[in-house]
Amino acid sequence: SIKGVIFDLDGVIADTAVVHHAAWKRLAGEIGIAFDDSVGERLKGVDRRGSLDILLERAPRAYSEDEKEALASRKNDYYRQQIESFGPHNLLPGSRNAIESVHRAGLKTALASASRNAPLLLERLGIADLFDYVVDANRVSRAKPDPEIFLAAARGLGLEPSECIGVEDAAAGIASIHAAGMKAVGVGHAQALAEADLLLSNVAAFDISLFTT
Ligand code: G6P
Ligand code: MG
Repeated sequence: SIKGVIFDLDGVIADTAVVHHAAWKRLAGEIGIAFDDSVGERLKGVDRRGSLDILLERAPRAYSEDEKEALASRKNDYYRQQIESFGPHNLLPGSRNAIESVHRAGLKTALASASRNAPLLLERLGIADLFDYVVDANRVSRAKPDPEIFLAAARGLGLEPSECIGVEDAAAGIASIHAAGMKAVGVGHAQALAEADLLLSNVAAFDISLFTT
């Protein structure tokens, strides 16, 4: 039976998917690379360097490692400028209740975030103490869609992967959850999340009783 729920952060709990999107779009504009929503969708859930590589697929020239480092850090500066002023009002509606409802049902919760900014964000949003276990990008070596981060979260909860479900807003995240051997709840649009076992339009619709009864 299900004993734990592992949540993604950006775009599921925190209203940051749009902030990441805007920062990448600004960078793309500055270096003359076409950026549209389909590229933006592919970047969701993908780590910083992986996202840059996707962006640069459309670049007219090659970039050196040093240049790539500088571009990734420039994007992060744009992103950080926005989230520095974040507070609890930047939680996506219903996200705190979704996490608390899991605890009320007697199950455990973990966070699995590909973001190196996750610790800062959890502090700003006021939810650092809400999870039984947190895994962020600073503690894993292989990015989503690799299963490493969800497996680490299950292990941290002391549960088998088959006893956990994952909640994600990105295709890369759904793939990571499935590769870990868990059922996946998709939050967002069917188009991007076709592989999800259950699709919800937002995290406010998350109801743990769907998995425990
Ligand atoms: C999350 C977001 C991605 C972002 C990644 C890395 O998965 O969905 O859009 O690229 O984290 O974030 P970071 O804050 O480390 O650059
Ligand atoms: Mg996400």
